[in-house]
Amino acid sequence: MNLIKFITRQLAFTASAVVVYGLGNPATVSGQSVLPVIQIQADKVTATMPPTFYGLMTEEINYSYEGGLYGELIRNRTFKSDALPQHLKPEEYDPAKYYPAAYPANVAPKFWNSIGGAGLVLDTNTPLNEALNVSLKVDATTASPTAPAGVANGGYWGIPVNKKTTYKVAFYAKATAGFGGSLTARIASADGKTVYAATTISGITGDWQKFEATLTTKRVAAALDNVFQLTTTMPGTIWLQEVSLFPPTYKNRANGDRRDISQLLNDAQPKFLRLPGGNYVEGNNFNERFNWKQMVGPTEQRPGHRSCWGYWSTDGFGLPEYLGWCQDIGMEPVLAVFAGYTLNREHLTAGPALEPYVQEALEEIEYVMGDASTKWGAQRAKDGYPQPFALHYVEVGNEDFFDRSGSYEGRFAQFYDAIKAKYPQLQIISTTPVKSRTADLNDEHYYESEEAMEAQSFMYDARDRSNPTKIFVGEWATRVGSPTPNLAGALGDAAWMCCLERNADIVLMHCYAPLFVNVSRISGNNRSMQWPSDLIGYDALNSYGSPSYYVQKMFSLQHGDQVLATKAENLPTYQWIQASRRNSGQTRTNEVKSIFYSATRDTQHHKIIVKIVNRADTAQAVHIDITGVNSVANRGTATVLKAANRNETNTSKDPQHVLPVTEKVKKLGASFTRVYPPCSITILELDAR
Ligand code: AHR
Repeated sequence: MNLIKFITRQLAFTASAVVVYGLGNPATVSGQSVLPVIQIQADKVTATMPPTFYGLMTEEINYSYEGGLYGELIRNRTFKSDALPQHLKPEEYDPAKYYPAAYPANVAPKFWNSIGGAGLVLDTNTPLNEALNVSLKVDATTASPTAPAGVANGGYWGIPVNKKTTYKVAFYAKATAGFGGSLTARIASADGKTVYAATTISGITGDWQKFEATLTTKRVAAALDNVFQLTTTMPGTIWLQEVSLFPPTYKNRANGDRRDISQLLNDAQPKFLRLPGGNYVEGNNFNERFNWKQMVGPTEQRPGHRSCWGYWSTDGFGLPEYLGWCQDIGMEPVLAVFAGYTLNREHLTAGPALEPYVQEALEEIEYVMGDASTKWGAQRAKDGYPQPFALHYVEVGNEDFFDRSGSYEGRFAQFYDAIKAKYPQLQIISTTPVKSRTADLNDEHYYESEEAMEAQSFMYDARDRSNPTKIFVGEWATRVGSPTPNLAGALGDAAWMCCLERNADIVLMHCYAPLFVNVSRISGNNRSMQWPSDLIGYDALNSYGSPSYYVQKMFSLQHGDQVLATKAENLPTYQWIQASRRNSGQTRTNEVKSIFYSATRDTQHHKIIVKIVNRADTAQAVHIDITGVNSVANRGTATVLKAANRNETNTSKDPQHVLPVTEKVKKLGASFTRVYPPCSITILELDAR
């Protein structure tokens, strides 16, 4: 994992989270508190809401794909998790060359256990192919009908079972000549007392072959504490590779995604997916970057790599799978390309040495949007996606403000010129401001405490409108609550998203990060979480949306196509006493607003959509005045997310503790006062003609 970035982020997070709450301060005139007023000018449109305003950001972190969205249930299915780390410096690394992994001698693979005393060892002498250059050698010479021997895998903190469900088993196997035996595949409880489903596979010979079978459960109770087993009753030696177990996937896609998590995503209707990172696009060093060419084609031809978040990725979830995900949820890819800078702060300067990576990026763009007559468009078609994908945005690198060498200016220019020359229609995103080219957008990242997020929730209103480079907030989150944010996080998020909506003339897109976390083991060795405060949590069986997820969903589903001019007066404030980031003991007192708002119009449905966030621990009345409309109906709807206090949250055991509720409401109109509950986020839909 990238230590430098992680420590920097954690320091900022910890320091800004040290706060002392002041009392809420209502606005006063001559000692009397006055009502906050929000004026909406319905005849003054300040921006057209970009159709791709709300999206998702993704990368392999917190077991996001393997152990998360990707349906695969077997952990370390290719036995490469033990591969020895390699570090090739940019100057000694040839991007066109394949560098096979090496392994420690005489070890059993991680996450696999022996059954019946079988000997397990990684075997580099019996590889499946060049990509999967190792196999699991299972010495089952003691096996007998009364004492089966073989292997077991506990999945990503458990193999889930659900009732009446068919699981697909697949693996490559070979055996010593004359083995003649069969293998039994089973899903069983970890204590061995319950066998949920079993099937026998025969025909294993001295040559590698792929075997496929299904396992179907009966009317069983859902359970997680299970293992997958492959055993034999015939003595012999067997070799295994790419051992796979898939549940039914979303839209039944082969090599596809988990249904429950996909459904949560689909429910929020995100319009774009920023992929594949984040740090994940960079990698810890050049040979561990997101090397997309090794992540296309059949999964058994993909070598996999060590991801920057500290664990092995088989890359079964590779570039085609990102695109399938986009297709299934109705999102457009926003493609981040590797730009010659890695997390250990190694880089190439612009010029001939960088050129192969520029070509790699052009080919990656062709893979996404080229038609099937192009080389890489044809590969995409072969991978199951004959139609080109709509692509409008390409991001060059990730967080290059960490590169203090100054090399980004030249690197960005080289990528920008080459991409614009071949694809003039594409919008190019920089990751830190540049001077020699005009980036179409610049990607800004914000990870903050609730107070810091609220304190900055009017900052874009004051931004210079003359800058031709627009803004993509490609990563942001209010980091309160772990593993997933609580209501305080959602309040900070909502305040911030009001700011983003009000400023949609300069902020064209944004996405929360990180998206996913496997909550099975959030600390200690072999932990499932690398980064606390993530939008959606899950274990192998259950998933849930955090309060922040529901706020994303509310905002993403309820916004119009036009942003309306707004003005506010008498907004109450609270005091945030901010500790110094350097732990010097110094503090700064900030007066922070405690009401946040935005107004948009849905022209097709004649609706004005007003968002009001009350972050205070007390109810607050707010008056709304709407001008520039003929009439506003007395009746409308209110969707409200709230809880007893800001620490309330959702968990896998209590997934629906904090949920938005929509109800019909009265006493609305062109001028009305309404009381907003403590710690609440409200979206009013007004019928306005
Ligand atoms: O979202 C987690 C990480 O934060 C991303 O990988 C990186 O871009 C940022 O530092």
